[in-house]
Amino acid sequence: MSTNGPREVPPLTGFRTAESRWARLGPYYAMFPIEFARQVVEALSKQGDTVLDPFCGRGTAPYVAMVSGRGAAGCDINPVAWLYAAVKTDPHPSLADVQKRIDEIATTVRDKDGRPTDEFQTLAFGRRALGFINAARRELQWRANVLDRTVSAFLVHYLHAKLGQGLSNQLRPTKAMCPDYSVRWWRKCGLTTPPDIDPAAFLRDRAAWRYAKGVPRHAGSASVELGNATEVLPDMPAAASLVLTSPPYIGVANYRADNWLRLWALGVGPPRPNWSIDQKFCSARKYESMLGAVLHAAYCRSRQDAVWCLRVDARERTLDIVRRVMAGLLPDYRTYERPSPSPRHTQTRLYGDDRRKPGDVDLVYLPRSKRKPAFLRSFKFVRSVARRGQRAKKRP
Ligand SMILES: C[S@@+](CC[C@H](N)C(=O)[O-])C[C@H]1O[C@@H](n2cnc3c(N)ncnc32)[C@H](O)[C@@H]1O
Repeated sequence: MSTNGPREVPPLTGFRTAESRWARLGPYYAMFPIEFARQVVEALSKQGDTVLDPFCGRGTAPYVAMVSGRGAAGCDINPVAWLYAAVKTDPHPSLADVQKRIDEIATTVRDKDGRPTDEFQTLAFGRRALGFINAARRELQWRANVLDRTVSAFLVHYLHAKLGQGLSNQLRPTKAMCPDYSVRWWRKCGLTTPPDIDPAAFLRDRAAWRYAKGVPRHAGSASVELGNATEVLPDMPAAASLVLTSPPYIGVANYRADNWLRLWALGVGPPRPNWSIDQKFCSARKYESMLGAVLHAAYCRSRQDAVWCLRVDARERTLDIVRRVMAGLLPDYRTYERPSPSPRHTQTRLYGDDRRKPGDVDLVYLPRSKRKPAFLRSFKFVRSVARRGQRAKKRP
């Protein structure tokens, strides 16, 4: 698998390379640690292979694959996730054009754009920031146009953050809290005056920082689609040698509600969250059917001898379903598992939640024809649970 040559992937952590700066684009809940994706891509694929992630979130897997010289493909159903993934793998090449477009948006702000419509907006944003956000919601064609998409990605990245690090009053960067909760919390903490920021100057500066080392290598070569994987994967060109993914976890994150403020800023969501329970995958039956359909679609875009690596919730509810679906999909494969090394500080811990987290499990599926790579030394071989005589599903 991996060629034992010089280090294939440029540094992806820190700030010194274009690749490390663009890798940071897009705060998103439950994202892969970049080093995990790098280790898997390096160990389980080689130059020229294609890596596919059908639940790509903010695009960590396709991004790492692309900058490592692999073909890269991914999709996500959430427009916020897709925006980050699409822009980090294909940012507009010119900083000057991006800054000019930011200034153009500022000139289109109308008087009423800066008027808050509820208490949350009153306390969350200064008038200039709110005016810019509303103008951007109207003007930016982020689905169709790479320049507008890049500007939108900067806007939603910095939309809410710690005080001074974004356009808002103090808010979590990854997950937008309930508006009523935020209002109560700002009042309790005496944070009742939102910061008065010049949004265009702020975003121009942040864009300059992101572009200071250039754009990532091989930018533009990845294929990242917006939509339900079962619908978009059949039209994607990938013949993946490695499927690297992390499916949603049952009952944990609600990717639409958690991103309600960013979805609103993109003009695709209401100005208050929609807590519809379906978005949280609370029904095990519906979850299994969604997972089976998406992973089968990925199977049809992968090679006969593809290696699969999944990071999943360690809680039995999710883990058992993933194991069952994968055993049905790849009954002839050898299976390896390990508890995933937990990050030193989880995001919730940074916000004062010190309860023990159940953690994740990494699952690797290796075709019988492939030798076990050194990377799997820390994994345990797991007997296949497939029934005798069970056959792999047919590719179309
Ligand atoms: C655990 S997250 C993946 C995070 C990703 N590994 C990263 O580094 O950002 C799971 C993702 O699956 C997406 N998703 C859920 N159902 C989907 C579907 N049917 N098709 C495509 N994406 C889906 C969610 O929007 C979410 O972004």
